[in-house]
Amino acid sequence: MKVTDKKQAAPSKQEAKKGAVKPKSDAASGLTELFEDGLKDIYWAEKALTKALPKMAKNATSPELIDAINNHLIETEEQIIRLEQVFELIGKKATAKKCDAMAGLIEEGDGILEETEIGVVRDAGIIAASQKIEHYEIATYGTLRQFAETLGLTEAAALLEQTLDEEKGADKKLTEVAVNAVNLEAAEAD
Ligand SMILES: [Fe+2]
Ligand SMILES: [Fe+2]
Repeated sequence: MKVTDKKQAAPSKQEAKKGAVKPKSDAASGLTELFEDGLKDIYWAEKALTKALPKMAKNATSPELIDAINNHLIETEEQIIRLEQVFELIGKKATAKKCDAMAGLIEEGDGILEETEIGVVRDAGIIAASQKIEHYEIATYGTLRQFAETLGLTEAAALLEQTLDEEKGADKKLTEVAVNAVNLEAAEAD
């Protein structure tokens, strides 16, 4: 017992030994702040996607893929409004904070466009990049919905769940397009 107390009494020294990162002065001190930070991140990410998705659609050739991307663009615009509603529910101004993870995923998608000829192979690459994006969003909204539930923010949790379901739907649709329309053709192009 005494040993435990001692450990708790000097966490910084102990943690430093383990290589723990020293928090910034404005670090989140509770779940509410972590929730808000997450909302700001995904708000930035969704806005960035409203610019990235049209570029992907322009570079796709499969009509099914173009449809899937354009439908998800409409959903993404609604998701931005939904996030603004969540900010309003917690009494905060909707603010975007650069999401490095999403910026990286979009950049990777751009790289795939440059590295492929337009056609089925690029389509397959667009699907691959898009599914990574959807999976990132699924992870994010799953976490945010859980945070909202834990914080007793029932209405916010319901809004986040609605978006989570759309992200899952988009991912499923992309798998269908890959299986039915694109991948086989891309393999034949080899
Ligand atoms: Fe989204
Ligand atoms: Fe999405």
